Amino acid sequence: MTEAYDDWGLATRAIRAGHIRTAEGEHSEPIFTTSSFVFQSAAEAAARFSGDEPGNIYSRFTNPTVACFEQRLAALEGGEACVATASGMSAILATCMALLKAGDHIVSSRSIFGTTNVLFNKFLAKVGISTSFVPLSDLSAWEAAIRPDTRILYAETPSNPITELGDIAALADLAHARGLLLVVDNCFCTPALQQPLALGADIVIHSATKYLDGQGRCVGGAVVGDAKLVGEEVFGFLRTAGPTMSPFNAWVFLKGLETLQLRMRAHSENALQLARWLERQDAVEQVYYPGLQSHPQYALAQRQQKAAGGMLSFVVKGGREQAWRLIDATRMISITANLGDTKSTITHPASTTHGRLTDEEKELSGIEDGLIRIAVGLEDIEDIQHDLEAGLAN
Ligand SMILES: Cc1ncc(COP(=O)(O)O)c(C=O)c1O
Repeated sequence: MTEAYDDWGLATRAIRAGHIRTAEGEHSEPIFTTSSFVFQSAAEAAARFSGDEPGNIYSRFTNPTVACFEQRLAALEGGEACVATASGMSAILATCMALLKAGDHIVSSRSIFGTTNVLFNKFLAKVGISTSFVPLSDLSAWEAAIRPDTRILYAETPSNPITELGDIAALADLAHARGLLLVVDNCFCTPALQQPLALGADIVIHSATKYLDGQGRCVGGAVVGDAKLVGEEVFGFLRTAGPTMSPFNAWVFLKGLETLQLRMRAHSENALQLARWLERQDAVEQVYYPGLQSHPQYALAQRQQKAAGGMLSFVVKGGREQAWRLIDATRMISITANLGDTKSTITHPASTTHGRLTDEEKELSGIEDGLIRIAVGLEDIEDIQHDLEAGLAN
């Protein structure tokens, strides 16, 4: 992170960090929709390509609107460098392709986003990078899974969908004692609620598609960390392989970031109220939400996060049949896989986001048939509750 932002609070950084303005004096950030940049001479072109002179060349490498988003997110996460990607998945792929080679090994928390699991198990395995999965909250299992060829510890906290927590500072200590990197997917909390780098993580992953956008408009991602690992190595992979962010999407994410602080606080307030209400419903067997005192890691959530966030899940009595009935009985909440939107969304993980896991993987990750995930939006809480009442009464 550049020195210039040290004095600013998070809300100011989210609105102003990295701001660019052209000679026209526009107030909102400009969108540079151009694939390449023009040089004054052949010598200037050569100097840009050789790196002797800074400046833009081609939008697969750098683009001013994308750079503005990168600087703003780096300032929010407290990282030296950020690279923006075409999606959250390409942020994870770019990190692994840049930092790992055939024969390397990852230790990952078991309860991760289903597609991340497929990326590790199917595609990285195909190029000789293997992964062992461990329970997120069991530090001794992480330690036991580390091998001589391990390079990365990979965690998602809170986890998707059952909001299990990993102790970032403890995982960072473990990683560094063994010469490894800790990579944390900070998608659920965002830097408004949790800053993994300050807790010792080396790299932060984002699906910008979620809360960074905040209104479900664009797909994008980002990797944040130090100048060498992220600014050179991950950037080097991206400019070569190409899954970079479009300038238009970067602009949408910039607009999203401006309200990140306010939204994350409001999502957390609504989710806490909904979680408490769900706990009182007879049809509900269990509620997973880190802001509830009944959450097994409530103390860690209080220490590690500024608030518990907008994601919760719960198990209804009656398994899949009852879960589908409840989902189908909603009239306002959107049945969709995305999360982090102002609009509340509802999904059945076992048959959608985590449908490609084996039965054993589902069981180990707590993805049971009666589990429902809600990304609690910013509608009036009474309306969200009212929309769930019909299905709970069935
Ligand atoms: C925790 C988490 N990480 C990563 C991703 C992947 O992001 P994207 O869909 O932007 O590729 C998702 C998507 O849902 C997610 O929930």
